Amino acid sequence: MSIWPRVLITGADGQVGRALLTSFAGSAEVIGCNRASLDLANADQIRKKVRAVAPDIIVNAGAYTAVDHAESERDLSFAINGRAPGILAEEAQRASALLIHYSTDYVFNGSKKGPWVEDDATDPLSVYGASKLAGEEAIRNVGGRHLIFRTSWVYAPEGKNFVLTMLRLGRERDSLNVVDDQVGAPTTAGELARATHAIATGILEKKFGADRTLSGVYHMTCSGSVSWCGFARAIFKRAHKLLGDKTPKVNPIATSDYPTLAKRPHNSVLSNDKLQRTFNMRLAPWQSALDEVLAAIAAYPRP
Ligand SMILES: NC(=O)c1ccc[n+]([C@@H]2O[C@H](COP(=O)([O-])OP(=O)(O)OC[C@H]3O[C@@H](n4cnc5c(N)ncnc54)[C@H](OP(=O)(O)O)[C@@H]3O)[C@@H](O)[C@H]2O)c1
Repeated sequence: MSIWPRVLITGADGQVGRALLTSFAGSAEVIGCNRASLDLANADQIRKKVRAVAPDIIVNAGAYTAVDHAESERDLSFAINGRAPGILAEEAQRASALLIHYSTDYVFNGSKKGPWVEDDATDPLSVYGASKLAGEEAIRNVGGRHLIFRTSWVYAPEGKNFVLTMLRLGRERDSLNVVDDQVGAPTTAGELARATHAIATGILEKKFGADRTLSGVYHMTCSGSVSWCGFARAIFKRAHKLLGDKTPKVNPIATSDYPTLAKRPHNSVLSNDKLQRTFNMRLAPWQSALDEVLAAIAAYPRP
């Protein structure tokens, strides 16, 4: 019999899902499920899969993440982001497993002056944000052992993300307009996965005390903050050094000059103090995490 914990990871083809597969490999029996092997919109499939796997830990990295499309796909985004986490929580409780789930900075309205703390009032501006908040509430209502990590501006060397979009646009254009009045903490999937793995392992080893009292919401982002425009400039500056890419001119614009279907918060910065206090965990500064991702991109052949 294996003495390794059995870890069920949903959304295993996504940015965070892939990074989790890497982080847990070598210290857990990992069962990664993508949409084809576990459709989070299908409640029966979720129950059957969890019962068949009998995991010690469920990490729910699957989500409906198309923020603008969610405005016109409310039912689907609520099924995946709002209802599925509650079913996973019920099944985790039934299996005496720990549920780890990711939520978002978009549960807030962005109006606060300083970093948001976990107890600040939520007020999502978009369907996506509302659906993720419903997922948090569904997990809390079940009341089993759970950790909800709210994160922001996630990217990885592969996937659909701002960094890869900027690198592509930078090759195609000499100048770009990028929003400068939305501030947040760009966070790599790799940093999230490493921290998740360390915390999950620590909980199994009872490093942090009684794990039922640890249940709740934690903010988990890379440290520091920047606007999308500042982030774009940093991407091009560092990509020039690491990848030899040309450096386009980046013009700051206001959110009002770049209308999107879903409204986004102006201030998305999350305080990570609770994460540090509870688990002695701090993620890397966004600048060094960006360098790590760019170095990984540099290692791939590009078209
Ligand atoms: N990306 C961000 O900027 C960001 C910011 C804050 C919080 N988060 C949260 O962080 C977590 C991980 O996000 P991520 O960046 O890794 O997102 P991602 O790259 O979009 O990955 C999400 C994964 O979920 C899968 N999925 C979608 N619908 C599904 C369904 N019905 N059944 C099963 N799987 C389904 C997707 O599969 P397909 O590829 O087949 O669609 C995809 O592989 C999510 O909870 C997200 O809400 C993300």
